[in-house]
Amino acid sequence: MKPFKLLALLAVTAVIVAPVVATAHENLGLDTPKPKIAMTPPMGWNSWNKFQCNIDEGKVRAVADAMASSGMKDAGYQYVVIDDCWQKTRSADGTIQADPERFPAGIKALADYVHSKGLKFGLYSDAGAKTCGGRPGSRGYEFQDARTYASWGVDYLKYDWCYTGPSNAEANYTTMAKALRESGRDIVLSICEWGDNKPREWAANIGHQWRTTGDIRDSWGKDEGWSHSFLWILDKQVDLWPDSGPNHWNDPDMLEVGNGGMTATEYRAHFSLWAMLAAPLIAGNDLSTMTTETHDILTNKDVIAIDQDVLGQQARRLVKDGDFEVWVRPLKGGDRAVVLFNRSEAAKSMSVDWETLQMPDGLKADVKDLWSKAVAKNVKGKFTADVPSHGAVMVRITPKV
Ligand code: GAL
Repeated sequence: MKPFKLLALLAVTAVIVAPVVATAHENLGLDTPKPKIAMTPPMGWNSWNKFQCNIDEGKVRAVADAMASSGMKDAGYQYVVIDDCWQKTRSADGTIQADPERFPAGIKALADYVHSKGLKFGLYSDAGAKTCGGRPGSRGYEFQDARTYASWGVDYLKYDWCYTGPSNAEANYTTMAKALRESGRDIVLSICEWGDNKPREWAANIGHQWRTTGDIRDSWGKDEGWSHSFLWILDKQVDLWPDSGPNHWNDPDMLEVGNGGMTATEYRAHFSLWAMLAAPLIAGNDLSTMTTETHDILTNKDVIAIDQDVLGQQARRLVKDGDFEVWVRPLKGGDRAVVLFNRSEAAKSMSVDWETLQMPDGLKADVKDLWSKAVAKNVKGKFTADVPSHGAVMVRITPKV
């Protein structure tokens, strides 16, 4: 075949084949629309990073109290989520039962308590026969569990991927999405298969957020097997920015701020970059005992406003020069959020120029440092700041019109 004929054939074939490929991931019987309840990244707290399986209703109540009274609720946090190990057995009719020793009042009473504080309530389950912690999973009980959750007042479900054998992730998450949508209650679906089954290709129609990696650990740069440091996870997010947006977010895992393994400077960098990534901001520390320093990081309203920006565009790393990076996130109305990030062992003067920000060189802009709150007025051409070792300077740049 002559080359131009081959090209013409390929072009026609592409036109015919493309729609089939595009729809391959769209349905699997999921015809009820996904509720629009995560138009900005969900914010809340989850028990796992601090407590693992050592969780009970007293701790959850204390966290809900703290979230409501400490200013976290005012800053936008709303979901109180119990992770693995709340489950114990199933009753004769298959209804999932909470551990009676740790949750003697039952999950509904706990959800009612959380709701009474003006907050929302979340639970964890798993698409396999067992959860990662060995408790009963939802396989074969998806619709019954979804109805039970709805009757208890659950607003958010984190759905894990242990003990699933050789099964298809898209199909399994579709089943639970369908069950939740038919449960009669709007429930956020947080997909947790660690990015193993290419969720970027199918998860956006199914869940509200999906994990992109294995678990985070409370460390700046030290990885340990399955659990990964802040830096390791951050690097895995670099190419994922096209996948994320309102009601469908990349989830680089929960926050470690306040858990003790990093310095305050490192935690500020962690929080800044998660906000740049439009990550769900799910605190993972004990809110009932947190220090003022931790509280002030988690409730920085200027940084949270970047995370919650309604345009929903995840930041891109536009400069990578060894240990020095510039991350940029476009915001609604033309502002830019910028993080100058210094991974090195020494402080460094760093700059970003207007060309990198796609702004005309002569344009004046106000630059607000979102941690120090200092504002530089009418800046032209570039912005420069001293960035501490292992630190981030995060600014909001507002062009003058
Ligand atoms: C992991 C998950 C963690 C936590 C844990 C509970 O698979 O990534 O975030 O939920 O299971 O066992």
